[in-house]
Amino acid sequence: MTPQDYADYKLIDYDLAVEAIRARTSVKPKVGLILGSGLGTLAERIEQADYIPYNEIPRFPQSEVVGHRNRFVAGLLEGVPVLAMQGRIHYYEGYSMQAVTFPIRVMQRIGIRTLIVTNAAGGLNPSFEAGDLMLITDHINFMGMAGIHPLVGRNDPNLGERFPDMSDAYDPHLCQVARQVAQAQGIRLREGVYIGLSGPSFETPAEVRMLQRLGADAVGMSTVGEVTVARHGGIRVVGFSGITNMLVKGEQQGQEVSHEEVLSIGRDVIAPKLELMVRGVLQALRA
Ligand code: HPA
Repeated sequence: MTPQDYADYKLIDYDLAVEAIRARTSVKPKVGLILGSGLGTLAERIEQADYIPYNEIPRFPQSEVVGHRNRFVAGLLEGVPVLAMQGRIHYYEGYSMQAVTFPIRVMQRIGIRTLIVTNAAGGLNPSFEAGDLMLITDHINFMGMAGIHPLVGRNDPNLGERFPDMSDAYDPHLCQVARQVAQAQGIRLREGVYIGLSGPSFETPAEVRMLQRLGADAVGMSTVGEVTVARHGGIRVVGFSGITNMLVKGEQQGQEVSHEEVLSIGRDVIAPKLELMVRGVLQALRA
């Protein structure tokens, strides 16, 4: 299959994928979890877990990026039935934005009402440090503004409305819950705006300056399309960026970045904090 094969999905495609997942698990997930680069270990903590490889789900796109496992994990986390994506699909792999966000539609159709989204991101806000965790309070869908938008095309009213509101893309109540969890756990939780670009090249120093002026605190290559589709589908969202590297140090731009660094900081420094945050949010959702 080539990426183009995934360009035109219909309701039936989502529902066939849901059927395939239901055939593999009796879990009825209420919360979706997307685990970004280097942050996938949390999926290993899911109890009574069923593993569903993406390649066993009809029309499901596959990720070839190192650090992504290409499977759903369905089970219980803090007693809440969850469906976790251990690895996501990226636009830079050559898939359409509809393919990148196919998993979100599947989550919507399977009955998920809350999405916890995570990613690895580069730090633009000079007060941040590598290893920080950032609560995403808002995003800039930079790719979407350039026309690379998952909702371009015919709108199916069974999935959502033509012109979805994005004023509360990141649920204010869940943001408040996240702040309380961070305080209770002694985690320094940063906050800010995430800007989503296509990648896959990292940013030039001039681009870093531009992104800062646009009002972004962190930059990455995912999330904005997924969150847009989730909101279109009436799913509420809470999001965390793991700041794996800083793109600025003081006045200085042009910090070198590597995918290996992104993965190792994510795994060693950010994943443990993220686990506490996700568990705390799930406890609040269960209560
Ligand atoms: N830029 C874009 N995406 C990223 C970065 C970065 O510096 N770090 C992790 N994901």
